[in-house]
Parts: sequence; C-alpha cells; structure tokens
Amino acid sequence: MDSLELKKLRQWFLKNAALLPWRSPDLNARRNPYAVWISETMLQQTQVSTVKDYFTRWMERFPDIQTLAAASEEDVFKFWQGLGYYSRARNILRTAQIVGKELPSSRKELEALPGIGAYTAGAILSLAFHQSEAILDGNLVRIFSRFYSLDFLPTENAQAAAIYWDYAKKVADSPKAYLHNEALMELGRTICKIKNPQCQSCPLRNQCKSFAQGTAAKFPPAKKHIQKDWHGTILVVESKDNKILAVHGEQKFFCNQYALPHFETVKSFPAGIPVAAESLIDVDQVLATDNLGNIRHNITVHKINSDVLHIRLKVSSAKAHVSHRDFVWLEKAKAPEVLANSFSTKALKMIQNA
Ligand code: ADE
Repeated sequence: MDSLELKKLRQWFLKNAALLPWRSPDLNARRNPYAVWISETMLQQTQVSTVKDYFTRWMERFPDIQTLAAASEEDVFKFWQGLGYYSRARNILRTAQIVGKELPSSRKELEALPGIGAYTAGAILSLAFHQSEAILDGNLVRIFSRFYSLDFLPTENAQAAAIYWDYAKKVADSPKAYLHNEALMELGRTICKIKNPQCQSCPLRNQCKSFAQGTAAKFPPAKKHIQKDWHGTILVVESKDNKILAVHGEQKFFCNQYALPHFETVKSFPAGIPVAAESLIDVDQVLATDNLGNIRHNITVHKINSDVLHIRLKVSSAKAHVSHRDFVWLEKAKAPEVLANSFSTKALKMIQNA
C-alpha cells in the first residue's frame, strides 16, 4: 500500500468511522492505554456489537488499572462471563496486578506481560501512545490477503507470518500509524468483510489485486481446521435436601468459576457412575443414577459431547462426603444463577425437564 492508498484510507476512516465506546469522537486524539488494552482484548474474540456493552460495564466497574488490580478473580470473571476464553480475563487481572497503575510503553515490556501478544501490544502502542507500531489481526490478514493476492495464511508457518507482518509494518511506518491500523480494522469489519465484501465502496480498490481480478471472495484461503473432540460426563449431584453440587477451580474449560463437576470419559462408557466421579462422591451414599441424555457444546476449538448424569443422594448435603478441595452446595432454584455458563445451564435444564 503506497502513500496515496494510505491517504485514501485515512480519509475514508475519518469520514466513516463508527462512534464506539472506546473511541473518542476526535479520531486523532491519543487514547487511554488501559481502555485500548481492555477493548482490543475483548475484540480479539467477539464482535463489536457484543463488546460495546461488555466494555462499558467493565469500565464502570473497573475504571482504571488500580481498581482492577484490587479486584478478586471472581469479580473479574463476572464481568467477563459470556465472552469465553476465561484465561484472558485471568491474564488481564494478573497483568493489572503486575503493573499496578500504568501500562508500559514499549513492545518488549508489553509483550512480557501475561495475555499481551504482538497484536495487543501493537494496538496499545499505536492507538494510545501514537507510536509507529504494527498490528496484525484477522481484519488486516484478510485485507492483505486480498490486496496482494496472498493464497496462504500467516498461521501456516514462520515465513508466511513474516510476510504478513512486513506488510503490516509498512502500513505502520508513519506518524499516522494509529489511523492506518484502526482504519484497516474498520475497513475489514465494514467493507472488506469475510462474506460479501463491498469492493465498490472500498478506498483501496484501485490497487487491490483481487479486486482487479474479481477474486476477492477467494481470499484469504480457508483455515486448515483444527477441532478437538472431547467426550465427557457432567454430573448433576442432588442431595436429599434439594441442593446441587458445584465445584470450583482446576477443571477443564473453566478457570476458577463454579461449574457442575465433569469428567472426560470414553465414548462408549457404560451406564453408571464414571470411575473418576467415584473419587468425588461416595458411591455408598447414592440413591439413584439416571442418564438424562447427551448435550453438545462448542468451546473454542473443543467440540464437546457430554452425557448428563443425574445422581441423587440418600443423604442431605450436610452429611454428604465430597472429596474436592473446593465445592459448594447450591439451592436447586439458585443453581442456574451461579452456574451461568452455557455448559452447566444446558445440563440443569435437563434435570428440570426430567
Ligand atoms: N476490531 C478490533 N479492534 C478494532 C478497532 N479498534 N476498530 C475497529 N474494529 C476493530
């Protein structure tokens, strides 16, 4: 992209930029580094329309790094709940605790912090500190792939990544890197879209290779799909006094939130209580076990297929033997509120319907 294209890009952005809660109406103003960090981390995984509300609520509750650093992980997760990738929320909190008050302003220091990678560091440095630092996200990859007809993805190998980053660095090699970077993200979101790119309205169409060739829809090439199957069993353990057992910490898929206990099991696991679950509850206290069926659920790359076992105990919660470092008995009526992740919600619905 030469200076003429970049000028057209800036003009397009200044005219068309959406007003978003993390942008100031003056697009040339420096941004609050903390707000850039939070919004860009949320935006890595979730679309703008959803992030708006999450970001606004987050900034009301944690208006600065000091407030965030003093918060509990539980509180932080509450404000992240629904965005997924909970390790990101945990990393945000750890980073806040490490830096205490302000984010550093060099790539090296930023990338040394938990959860801050090349993209987030570039976004903070360019959008907040107005440094000539590059970013590369899915939007920019799609634009470069189309603009230069690149039939490979940066994730394929180091050489491929270097080619994309070199284009990103050229765009950022300017005192206006902050505008170029954000304009490209906005262009990717609104014009150079995954489906139905609006090439007729694109400020870069004159030099775009795939526009000239009418091949925009072919770029970028499809991802080689990775998907991991996970087969397991979710337990809904109910005590005689109508309480539901939830456990906390060190579980697959959930970072320090309460969730229904779940175990990986072989696909054809026989009816009954999975062996691993016997280390959680005392089988001698079990009154009845019902397999309520199966739920499917996707979390990141995990394709989850779980049997839901309803285990009723002969004893009340106070007398139940539970071998877990951190567990809690929840009133059955209140359980859906505490176990708000969709995985647990689906399983709880099954016992209500059973
Ligand atoms: N997607 C991720 N970050 C963005 C930003 N700052 N502007 C537009 N779209 C984005």
